[in-house]
Amino acid sequence: MTSNAAKNPRITCAAQVGESCPPYARKEILGQIAYRMETKVRLKGNQRNMTKLPILLVSGASGGLGQLVLQNLLDRYCIDPTRIIAVTRSPAKLSEFAARGIAVRAGDFDKSEGLVEAFSDADRLLLISTDADPLQSYLDDVDPMGDPNRRRVRRQAAEAAGVAHIIYTSAPNPEPPTVCFWKRDHFRTEQAIRESSMSWSMLRNWEYPDFHLAYSWAQAVASGHYLAGSGAGRCAFITRKDCAHAAAAALASDFSGKRVFNITGARTYCMDEVLALIAEINGREIEVTHVSPAEMRRRLTERGEDLAPVFTAFHEGMGLGKYDCVSFDFEALTGTTPGSLEDFLRANPVTEEQTNVVFRFADLNS
Ligand SMILES: NC(=O)c1ccc[n+]([C@@H]2O[C@H](COP(=O)([O-])OP(=O)(O)OC[C@H]3O[C@@H](n4cnc5c(N)ncnc54)[C@H](OP(=O)(O)O)[C@@H]3O)[C@@H](O)[C@H]2O)c1
Repeated sequence: MTSNAAKNPRITCAAQVGESCPPYARKEILGQIAYRMETKVRLKGNQRNMTKLPILLVSGASGGLGQLVLQNLLDRYCIDPTRIIAVTRSPAKLSEFAARGIAVRAGDFDKSEGLVEAFSDADRLLLISTDADPLQSYLDDVDPMGDPNRRRVRRQAAEAAGVAHIIYTSAPNPEPPTVCFWKRDHFRTEQAIRESSMSWSMLRNWEYPDFHLAYSWAQAVASGHYLAGSGAGRCAFITRKDCAHAAAAALASDFSGKRVFNITGARTYCMDEVLALIAEINGREIEVTHVSPAEMRRRLTERGEDLAPVFTAFHEGMGLGKYDCVSFDFEALTGTTPGSLEDFLRANPVTEEQTNVVFRFADLNS
């Protein structure tokens, strides 16, 4: 006997999601069924005025976060691929998603021409912050405040394309004054969006442990030393995977107001606790040396660490309590709790390859 689920992939999806089906996914599935029934009735009545479900657009879609958001939309929220648009500078990188039926369009924030077209048809837009704006300009010492032109181009293109709701991946506590210089650009982008005619959701993503594991914690496993400027400061790390889940939930929802979400992990950790976990999981003793942020920056710079300004500012921000917050916004958006830092570290033991890096975080000249 062929079950309903086998006949209808959308119902199969609902069954798979089962009890843990997040509220937005349930709504989506019911919405799809209602849409089909309504379409049938209207077609029968020969009416042209059909109800339309929103078109969802992800910009900067080929990055780590963007691809995870697309996966969540398709596999967790069971969004019909014909309702999804991915905008990227590198369409070829998204060929697998194109093969699943997503519309992949070319779009670059540095080229305003074509951006309105790239955003056209979208009702809800996820604007993924770029890695280029603040960091490169800071490192090049060209424009430490980020690129105002890019902010204007993105907002105007979204407005001109008729987007109703914009979701932006921002950063924790971006309001000035902030020691974390990349947040000035996040703050100004938030401002530009607030001044627009669109409704919005700011997703202030806390720190990914993914980034810190790859760029500094793995070095501690290799060397047995870690240099910290964060003192007793604490941070509620949340994985990139969970941030993507939250972004997909916000995009797939029908929220049409204005809201700031703090996307944090379920508990905070100080660096001593993080490094103790990493030491235990990777079977390696790690000595943590605490210095002032200025001294941390001096030592890292001396060793040629390009990201010294970024890491030092993050440690200083942590010491100032800027990351010391546990919010329930992730749960409110997704209906589930975020994964723990410990589970992430256990699932990602430091590899041989990761330890083949220069030990800039080792406290070798204390
Ligand atoms: N919370 C944290 O701990 C943390 C850590 C690292 C980064 N971030 C921020 O979160 C963002 C997403 O993280 P991720 O892991 O996905 O980073 P990623 O893999 O490095 O992706 C970078 C993103 O920037 C986009 N981009 C760069 N220049 C662009 C341009 N001129 N026009 C349009 N898009 C441009 C890329 O889009 P395409 O290549 O597809 O065009 C890509 O989506 C980063 O860009 C950064 O702002 C947060």
